[in-house]
Amino acid sequence: MTIEIENAKIGVVGLGLMGSSIATNFLIAGHQVVGLELMPEAYRMASMRIDHHLQACDELKLLEDNTSYNPNNLHLTQTYKDLEDCDLVLESVVEDLAIKSEVIQQIEKTVSGHCVIASNTSAIPITTLQKKMESPSRFLGLHWSEPAYASRYLEIICGAHTDLQIAKQIQQVGPRWGKEPILLKKDIRGFVTNRLMYAVYREGLQILERGEANIEALDKSFRYDTGSWITMMGIFQRMDYLGIKYFENLAERTLGRLSNAKEVPDAMKKIVAEKGRGVHNQNGLYSYSQQEAEDWKEAFGKFSSELHQLSEKWLK
Ligand SMILES: NC(=O)c1ccc[n+]([C@@H]2O[C@H](COP(=O)([O-])OP(=O)(O)OC[C@H]3O[C@@H](n4cnc5c(N)ncnc54)[C@H](O)[C@@H]3O)[C@@H](O)[C@H]2O)c1
Repeated sequence: MTIEIENAKIGVVGLGLMGSSIATNFLIAGHQVVGLELMPEAYRMASMRIDHHLQACDELKLLEDNTSYNPNNLHLTQTYKDLEDCDLVLESVVEDLAIKSEVIQQIEKTVSGHCVIASNTSAIPITTLQKKMESPSRFLGLHWSEPAYASRYLEIICGAHTDLQIAKQIQQVGPRWGKEPILLKKDIRGFVTNRLMYAVYREGLQILERGEANIEALDKSFRYDTGSWITMMGIFQRMDYLGIKYFENLAERTLGRLSNAKEVPDAMKKIVAEKGRGVHNQNGLYSYSQQEAEDWKEAFGKFSSELHQLSEKWLK
């Protein structure tokens, strides 16, 4: 199947935190965008959220010299029917298998046979989401990172039934969306980034639970050591830079001592049981006032964009 992605009309279903940010990214890349939000309260907020992101894009100079962006290209709706002439529809509704499956079926019933359908799921296997589809070959995972309009990350994930050619075409168009897409031919659990990061989270939480370092120390270590090289090198270039022999020695002495815990750590279970959602409700591993949480989220958006510009300068 060959798809028309360059000038595609793109639907985004679910305009929450990520969906509104992804819709903004497609808009500034020059696409016509149909934003479908089914929840009445979220629908009332959607336009404001996207305006806020566009303002951030403007401040970050992402709209400067951008002739393809047209604010009239956005159409917000509450009905599936408005997706019918889209070439690509991405769902970004809440991370719940039953809800996502239902939304994907509704999208499939509405769109034409040439439309590609994608999910922004963080962790549900793409093959699982394909199970109830009539033509699963046109379905894949498109996993974004927040804020989607500023970060360079896009993970393209094939399920067992995905047409690889479609995934490759999306990979080719990724740079037009400001992304450096990576392609996973198999939907391994956690995909790539989450899988890598869970190894780090597990070790960090174990050190925390054993009382060997506190959260501030662990975060500072990650920010000021790992953070000083990770965007430039990734993990394997880092090994080449420091010397493989060094890594072999360290691996020999350290690997056997790392956590291989299979249970969710108690520290995390406790916060979830107490309905902690971190900066989103000011209840997490750190404590925040509402203003601090807002300032922090805003600063992160700006930081991501500056990082985007910095890596564009250095990583040709
Ligand atoms: N937040 C992130 O950093 C991030 C990163 C990558 C992927 N994701 C994934 O993106 C998706 C959305 O996450 P989010 O952070 O934007 O969440 P969110 O809570 O901000 O938004 C959830 C969206 O789902 C909609 N929704 C809720 N119940 C629904 C229902 N029954 N039917 C239809 N729509 C419903 C809401 O109206 C809203 O638009 C999830 O799959 C999540 O795992 C999130």
